[in-house]
Amino acid sequence: MTSELLAKAHQYETCYGAQIGEWERPMFHLTPRVGWMNDPNGFSFYKGEYHMFYQYHPYTLQWGPMHWGHAVSRDMLHWKYLPAAMAPDTKADHIGCFSGSAVETAEGKHLLMYTGVHRKEMDGGCQERQTQCLALGDGITYEKWKNNPVLTEDDLPEGFSPVDFRDPKLWRESDGSYACVVGNRTDDGSGAVLLFRSPDGLSWHFNSVLDRCRNEYGKMWECPDFFPLGEQYVIVVSPQEMQAKDLEFYGGDGTMFLVGRYDREKGKFVRDVVQAIDHGTDFYAPQTVLTPDGRRVMVGWLQNWGTSGFVPEGARWHGQLTLPRELTVRNGRICQNPIRELETMRGNRTAYESVTVGDHTVFPGISGRELDMTVTIHTDDEGLFSRFEMRAVGDEQWGVTIAYMPNSGILELRRVYAGNTQGGAQVRQCRVENRDDRLKLRVILDRFSVEVFVNDGEQAMTAAVDTPKATGAILFSSDGRTVIDVEKYELSN
Ligand code: FRU
Repeated sequence: MTSELLAKAHQYETCYGAQIGEWERPMFHLTPRVGWMNDPNGFSFYKGEYHMFYQYHPYTLQWGPMHWGHAVSRDMLHWKYLPAAMAPDTKADHIGCFSGSAVETAEGKHLLMYTGVHRKEMDGGCQERQTQCLALGDGITYEKWKNNPVLTEDDLPEGFSPVDFRDPKLWRESDGSYACVVGNRTDDGSGAVLLFRSPDGLSWHFNSVLDRCRNEYGKMWECPDFFPLGEQYVIVVSPQEMQAKDLEFYGGDGTMFLVGRYDREKGKFVRDVVQAIDHGTDFYAPQTVLTPDGRRVMVGWLQNWGTSGFVPEGARWHGQLTLPRELTVRNGRICQNPIRELETMRGNRTAYESVTVGDHTVFPGISGRELDMTVTIHTDDEGLFSRFEMRAVGDEQWGVTIAYMPNSGILELRRVYAGNTQGGAQVRQCRVENRDDRLKLRVILDRFSVEVFVNDGEQAMTAAVDTPKATGAILFSSDGRTVIDVEKYELSN
């Protein structure tokens, strides 16, 4: 049965979503059908298609009572909108249907697990509570489970918070049982990832504290994910209130890969490596899916709470998801690269080899707003330059600058002239390595974003941009002489 609230959302999104022209949206990044989007949710493969749900408030361009928007795709690049899957319309989730995930059940149903937020009346007032809830569906319509919520504060061990208890990420075990990780905040004020198990996906119990941060990496740990990758196990988490550290982490809402070992018997994870997931200004709350051909693919919110307050003038949607990224392990660290499906969108190729960049250099044919470009900087002639810059999605006034400073080994992403009128973080840096006297930067541009992948995915830097769409120049400059190779493909649908 479709509730009144969900029917209202369907009516609204059909009417107002259809008014948004193709050119007002990115070419291959998913945006909300209309209104506001934050985290990706329920990223899964079901009945031959990828499903993506998202935190959704169709009615405004700000966060509001959370619905789940819904879209499907065969290649994770071309998305088709489906009607919103859930509205905050039950007792367990009347304040919002927060983030969660999806799997296919043994019976072939699509099972969504999400955080239902409700108000609990108590002596002397009321308090919000976060609980874990379920909905079952056929890939289009979803019915909330009659026994919601299925995990509440009563399932938590002592010292874990009933208020910060959210974002379940589900999977099926090889024996057919179900498991999920959920973010929590412990009584030391900082984050933890809790592991729960279920024989049938419907009745759940606490298993163990998979990992906790004891105030080492931020406070509340949001949106956990957990999976094997090669020989390792990986926790993905988005900590709030991070402290900045060594150009690896910035202050605020951050994201981390924890790479390590998993003792399944004890339900414990041991960390070996901790690394930032993305060093740009606009990335948060990533979630992964295992594709039918065995790839682990991650998508994040191409935005961050620290920057999401800026809504471009005239916009009718706000928030987008990143390009899906394939994860691999190299030397014990996680690398991320654009999904290989992107190559099917490649059109005209323009390439230059060993060309020299001086004061201000342009290369004929190297321009555009929707492109896949690899710039390889030669670093073997030391002392030839101390700053190399590439300014994209711009002209003399506008642009996003990617700068490399070989003496300090720092890569910088500056989106000072990218249209943001709200201030906040505009410049980010990270440390990069020369590999065989080369630094390789793969830059993916869509109409509203820049994503940079360093050395085949060792680091990523992501930024949302709002420069006028006619500005597609790419300007190169060096304070000395920099030798580069450039290979550019236009992208088209
Ligand atoms: C992360 C988050 C989640 C929560 C959702 C609410 O961005 O804060 O923890 O479920 O957004 O929209």
